[in-house]
Amino acid sequence: MRASGLPAPLSADEIVKMKAVCKLAARTLEHISSYVKPGISLNEIDQIIYDFTLTHGATPAPLGYHGYPKSVCTSLNDVVCHGVPDKSILKEGDIINIDVTPFKDGFFGDTSAMFLVGQVDETLKHLVQIAEMARDKGIESIAPGATTGDIGFEINKFVTRNGYTTVKEIGGHGVGRMFHEEPFVPSFGKKGRGDKLLPWRCITVEPMVNMGSDEIIEYDIPRSTIKWYRTADGKPSAQFEHTILVTDSGYDILTLPD
Ligand code: MF3
Ligand code: CO
Ligand code: CO
Repeated sequence: MRASGLPAPLSADEIVKMKAVCKLAARTLEHISSYVKPGISLNEIDQIIYDFTLTHGATPAPLGYHGYPKSVCTSLNDVVCHGVPDKSILKEGDIINIDVTPFKDGFFGDTSAMFLVGQVDETLKHLVQIAEMARDKGIESIAPGATTGDIGFEINKFVTRNGYTTVKEIGGHGVGRMFHEEPFVPSFGKKGRGDKLLPWRCITVEPMVNMGSDEIIEYDIPRSTIKWYRTADGKPSAQFEHTILVTDSGYDILTLPD
């Protein structure tokens, strides 16, 4: 860690490794998509992701991270994030966020997406669509000299204009040599505020979008310091996440499949 608290830039060689693990992360979501159907359990999803990750020469970073017990986060309906896989079985009409982070050759690739289970209500589909577009609005604000506040501002503006709310307590982060490092990347903010985005570092953009109130409730995970969260009003929440390389001219989204 440097005196500033911000990580050092990635070398060309490190960027190659970062790109590889991020590509694997994207492929992991692609792989799990065909299994997300009514009848599958969250534990089965966890096992499939564990196997896929190891088969590709990586390890699932969530497993054992601050005592987290599983290889993936599965956040169903009103679960905002860090949902722990259990015996719950997906049913028609559910929406679920699956968040994967393989670790390979010293680097972390972090990505998540929403999946629709069978036929889903139009209102829920709209929430999911807005969450994905909000992430992309945030990403599009990344430019030389931009700040984390610029990202948050664009996300929050888009989400509130569509009648939803953004979660304030949790957000994106620096990622690369560490799973979570500086800077914090909020889903709300003011233009020009926050940390300046520095070239050749990676961040995640991962807004959590609530259909109702932005208030969330924190829950303990046994034997872990990681918390999981649910909306206070029980209404659904949606989230998408990419890992982005900040460059000297803009950005490169690393967690896209080919
Ligand atoms: N992947 C999550 C994120 O986007 C972090 C999960 S930490 C865990 O930052 F321990 F819950 F896995
Ligand atoms: Co993340
Ligand atoms: Co993640």
